[in-house]
Amino acid sequence: MTTTTAAQSLWLKALPADGYPPLQADETFDVAVIGGGITGMTTALLLKQAGLRVAVLEAGRVGAGVSGNNTAKVTALQSTMYSTIVDKHGEFAARDYAAASLAGVEKVAELAVDCDLQRRPAYTYALAPGEVEAVEQEAQAAAKAGLAVTSESMDVPFPVHATVKLADQVLIHPLKYVLGLAKQFVGDGCQIFENTRVSQVEGGRVRTPGGTVEAEKVVVATHYPILDRGLYFARLEPMRSYCIAAKLRSGTPPEALAINPGMPTRSLSSSGDLLIVAGESHPVGQPGVSPRRYEELANFAREYWDVEEITHRWSAQDPSSYDKLPMIGRYNRLSDRVYVATGFMKWGLATGTFAGMILADLMTGKGNPWAERFDPHRLTLNYVPELVRMNAKVAVDLVGDHLVTTDKPAADVRIERDGLGKKGIYRDPDGSEHAVSLRCTHLGCLLRFNAAETSWDCPCHGSRFDVDGNVLEGPATKPLPQRDV
Ligand SMILES: Cc1cc2nc3c(=O)[nH]c(=O)nc-3n(C[C@H](O)[C@H](O)[C@H](O)COP(=O)(O)OP(=O)(O)OC[C@H]3O[C@@H](n4cnc5c(N)ncnc54)[C@H](O)[C@@H]3O)c2cc1C
Ligand code: FES
Repeated sequence: MTTTTAAQSLWLKALPADGYPPLQADETFDVAVIGGGITGMTTALLLKQAGLRVAVLEAGRVGAGVSGNNTAKVTALQSTMYSTIVDKHGEFAARDYAAASLAGVEKVAELAVDCDLQRRPAYTYALAPGEVEAVEQEAQAAAKAGLAVTSESMDVPFPVHATVKLADQVLIHPLKYVLGLAKQFVGDGCQIFENTRVSQVEGGRVRTPGGTVEAEKVVVATHYPILDRGLYFARLEPMRSYCIAAKLRSGTPPEALAINPGMPTRSLSSSGDLLIVAGESHPVGQPGVSPRRYEELANFAREYWDVEEITHRWSAQDPSSYDKLPMIGRYNRLSDRVYVATGFMKWGLATGTFAGMILADLMTGKGNPWAERFDPHRLTLNYVPELVRMNAKVAVDLVGDHLVTTDKPAADVRIERDGLGKKGIYRDPDGSEHAVSLRCTHLGCLLRFNAAETSWDCPCHGSRFDVDGNVLEGPATKPLPQRDV
């Protein structure tokens, strides 16, 4: 049954038991990269290739963040990205995004080692007649942006009302890909420190519980930026999505790497003979999230394929930027010491890779044709209403939930007063209770229970904690205080 399958991405079983050691002393490097996902590892490897001594500091395991929890498509065709960019930023911006994305796809093909890489066609398709117009607009926008798109049928067992296709994109095993980057990176003065959560960055001084790294330059590749400066929190909205993998009794998964633009979204991918279906997206910390989301995806798979078993289910989140372009470059406008890459909108296998290319060029003083376009400090005026919407929501979540009684979010959870705040108590299947403060350690929003993942999630900027208060995802860097039951 879908809901009883342990939630873990099918890619994570490739994680080796032995990892890299944690940082246990003070060290000096040319560059400290915080975060060992596809973005951090690509940046680190390209900097090593440029002759620098680099450290990667990873809170958990390399590749086990969002980079090990996705649908594995490395493609420059990304749903309706080009219509959105043409509409809001114009044709030149769409051309830059397309050129950078194609370069990202080809860089993945160049750096790939032992990661089951295959060339596959990518599609944006209309699942319902109401999506035809969006797909046709995307075909025009993608062509204007310089992509060699066509309109061809897809190998799926359900009616498709329109398509736009881009040939020769890439399917990988994303965790094996990142582990391959790590293998190429380590050595010649370059090191990875796992289980090393960074708590603070001051200039080039990067602090962790086990020691401090002094570096000339620092890269924040933590997916959602952890440093409380630069107003990134006001410009990013983390969105969570769900995935299932299904073993088929007969037939094969489609060759197509496909996604439809409407709701419900049904994104299709595969791994060997397993079909992958993803969708059911929502802002992180939304009330009432339940395992039902996995069931909806499983029902879609069962409706159209001969499914023998749902083998895996997992979910993950990725921040969308307010103006729908990624943010890549200097963390602060006035300093060239700290850099950042974020806002990949669930397309970071290509985007995180070209982010690494841009950051490596900027940090080694080379020009980069796309750096200005994706500069985090650009001002996109026609997105002011979107900024207002995102921040009004945060204001409501920051203040509103503290004033009202929170409804009981799930059968095994209760919420009680805790001085001026609240505590959440989760009863596990063995009957043991786990109580934590519900005040997010990032900026203080009230956490909400996510029954699909058994976690406490923050509606403001997407931090997530387990039922004992340990940080699952940032920007928070500190655990929740435990409480008496
Ligand atoms: C459901 C879903 C499906 C997706 N499918 C696709 C797809 O098919 N194709 C595609 O291109 N993109 C896809 N994406 C998006 C893509 O996976 C991400 O954009 C990309 O992996 C982001 O890479 P990253 O390196 O920036 O982040 P991550 O892989 O999350 O790496 C960041 C790392 O930073 C570490 N970290 C965080 N805080 C700290 C700290 N304080 N100190 C030290 N380390 C820290 C984390 O542990 C993590 O390992 C999908 C996303 C989702 C949610
Ligand atoms: S993630 Fe910012 S307040 Fe919780």
